[in-house]
Amino acid sequence: MPPNAKELKNPVPANAATLADARATYVQYCAKCHGVNGDGKRPPGSMYSYTTQPTNFTNARLMDAMNDGEIFWKMTNGRKPMPSFKNRLTDEQRWELVNLIRVLAHPRSTPAPAQ
Ligand code: HEC
Repeated sequence: MPPNAKELKNPVPANAATLADARATYVQYCAKCHGVNGDGKRPPGSMYSYTTQPTNFTNARLMDAMNDGEIFWKMTNGRKPMPSFKNRLTDEQRWELVNLIRVLAHPRSTPAPAQ
């Protein structure tokens, strides 16, 4: 990961509208591997069949260790066997997903991005 990836700041506010957008994107592009609730358990019928366990976004300790720029960068560039979403999703959609991942890690609090 390039050092400046961590410097990227999330330009998208986390609010009801952007989180609802993110949920729709998540269901379509991410849930088949990362699980409907983000727990890393792929749902029944998922075509995902690699041995690498998809990241559990509900693991707050794990996710808090990454800042927004890192999460964004990993989504943009992919992480084998995860594909790159650079061309499939807009920058805005990926930043919205960063906010959603914060909510999945901390369901009862407002998302607190790591520094
Ligand atoms: C084909 C299955 C697949 C899909 C689809 C997928 N992922 Fe992943 N993702 C993975 C796997 C497997 C890993 C863990 C890779 C590793 O540990 O090296 C991962 C890792 C990540 C990471 C890095 C976390 C870390 O531990 O460094 C993020 C962030 C992420 N995924 C977000 C997403 C988002 C958001 C989407 C939807 C836009 C998505 N992924 C779609 C399989 C997938």
